[in-house]
Amino acid sequence: MIPVYLCGKDSARSGCLFCLIKERRVHVAVYFIKCLRRMLHISHFAQSTSQILLGFSIYRSFSAFKMATWQKVVVFIGSAREARLGERVTKFVVNKLKEKKLEVVLVDPQKFEVPILQKPVHFYRPNDTPPPANNLVSMNKHITEADAIVVISCEYNHCIPPGLTNIMDHFGPKSFDKKPSGIVTYSPSSVGGARAGVQLRSLLGELGCISVSNMFTIPQVHKAIGESGEPLDSEGGKHMDSAVGKLLAQLEWWANAAKAQRAVKENY
Ligand SMILES: Cc1cc2nc3c(=O)[nH]c(=O)nc-3n(C[C@H](O)[C@H](O)[C@H](O)COP(=O)(O)O)c2cc1C
Repeated sequence: MIPVYLCGKDSARSGCLFCLIKERRVHVAVYFIKCLRRMLHISHFAQSTSQILLGFSIYRSFSAFKMATWQKVVVFIGSAREARLGERVTKFVVNKLKEKKLEVVLVDPQKFEVPILQKPVHFYRPNDTPPPANNLVSMNKHITEADAIVVISCEYNHCIPPGLTNIMDHFGPKSFDKKPSGIVTYSPSSVGGARAGVQLRSLLGELGCISVSNMFTIPQVHKAIGESGEPLDSEGGKHMDSAVGKLLAQLEWWANAAKAQRAVKENY
């Protein structure tokens, strides 16, 4: 059931309803066949055809949901700074992802070398020389295969660190499209990098991997997490476990839902 709020003139309203019906075309087709059968008392052959169609549609939905378990997550790290506090946050979050038996691929700006954007990987044509760098091609494959994206970032002058935007801009919306994302921000101040978090929401939305509503924001990160990624006090640790748990639970729900939907319907 989809509640629909209609406004505007009658022609626009019927247009909206038509779009919804188009989206539900499998169900409409099955309904249509059922009506035909009733109206014409059609032959045994047609009856079997409608049953086969119905069975096929149920089978496709069922097999899509069976496959829809998230398996792979790509994690972008925002800071390339030496002695970065982001290292601790990454360890904390990656441990939580690994507890869920997920394959985790890190995009670490200390190791993943890219120039200031000159040519994004999706701008290359098949015979372009030189071809795109190997690290871009293989990371693009990881992003395309991922079921969800996680971004772990500090804020620089109330903005997303430019190094992070530079890396993300190398990959096209097609690689990120139709997968959910989770945002984790931190800072030594009491704001926890939240302003960059809000901006990341716009960036990720534009890339087609809309962020889930929970954000994991860590203020005073230097007092919250130790060097090996462990919480530094038990009360704070409980709070962080709960916050990251809520984010990952939402991410898992959306990742599985999007994966099922991608399996039955690739394009729109
Ligand atoms: C260029 C620059 C700008 C910064 N701007 C902010 C800011 O706007 N808000 C904030 O809370 N911290 C700011 N900081 C402090 C960072 O939050 C702090 O250095 C943090 O540890 C950075 O993350 P990292 O250690 O993982 O690199 C800034 C730091 C730098 C280097």
